[in-house]
Amino acid sequence: MMRDTAVLDAQAVSVRLGKSPVLNEVTLSIPRGMVTAIIGPNGSGKSTLLRTLARLLRPETGAVLLDGAAIARMSPGQVARQIATLPQSPGAVPGMTVQELVETGRYPHTGPLRIRSDRDRAAVERALELTSSSSFRHRLMDSLSGGERQRVWIALALAQEPRILLLDEPTTFLDVNHQIQALNLIQALNREHGLTVVMALHDLNQASQYAERLMVLHGGRIVEEGPPTAVIREDMLASVFNVRAHISVSPIDGALLCYPYAALTGEDDGVDSGFAGPVS
Ligand SMILES: Nc1ncnc2c1ncn2[C@@H]1O[C@H](COP(=O)(O)OP(=O)(O)OP(=O)(O)O)[C@@H](O)[C@H]1O
Ligand SMILES: [Mg+2]
Repeated sequence: MMRDTAVLDAQAVSVRLGKSPVLNEVTLSIPRGMVTAIIGPNGSGKSTLLRTLARLLRPETGAVLLDGAAIARMSPGQVARQIATLPQSPGAVPGMTVQELVETGRYPHTGPLRIRSDRDRAAVERALELTSSSSFRHRLMDSLSGGERQRVWIALALAQEPRILLLDEPTTFLDVNHQIQALNLIQALNREHGLTVVMALHDLNQASQYAERLMVLHGGRIVEEGPPTAVIREDMLASVFNVRAHISVSPIDGALLCYPYAALTGEDDGVDSGFAGPVS
């Protein structure tokens, strides 16, 4: 029988890129129907982990399981019908319009021919609308602003109609309004359609506000895992992110708010950044 808790499992996954080990025996379970955020400093392995979970990278050792079955033995199409990925830096797509790009999200379902069924068309329309991208659907991708382009990449993932969304920093490039809109959309897809969401986020307050579960990556290992209220702690921020932070409770929704106010340097957590304030 299918396990009803985890939808994606990593079992002792190790990944090496070039000569460097990047993921070190990572074992984790992504809970079905939940929003999980992966947080961690630059270079801690977040993007590598997402790419490995999406079968875009093959681990050196260990295995990724999708509904209990080894993802390595599935075809790319089989995986793409279930998992959509928003990469951290999507490549350029010269000569392609917004709508043409979003239509490629249907390829795992239709094959690389053309949009055929009403269902395909409806999925593309819905994805364009949900991301407020309809108004520039006929523009070339190259002509869009960074934030508009980011919304189109999210639309592409939605057009795929996946069960699992893996998002690598979905809010970078977006202004505050569109950050909230994107996160609200992701939350609505999760709550209303049961989508399982995993996203790498740098904004710890967004992670605390939108994720039910946090996983903290540090040096290619998961060092903490749990609900935001258990994970967002001053000692975690000091040991993982090298910052001193003040933590409070948001009067708006009760989520933990983190206010980093000093960078720690070196091994001694008592040492400040050395910046003594404005020069007079
Ligand atoms: N092709 C590569 N060859 C060698 N090292 C690589 C390669 N790609 C990534 N790395 C290294 O792997 C480590 C993890 O990279 P990764 O992109 O997963 O980190 P990240 O947590 O997503 O960081 P960021 O917050 O900056 O996006 C980094 O130290 C990076 O330099
Ligand atoms: Mg990254």
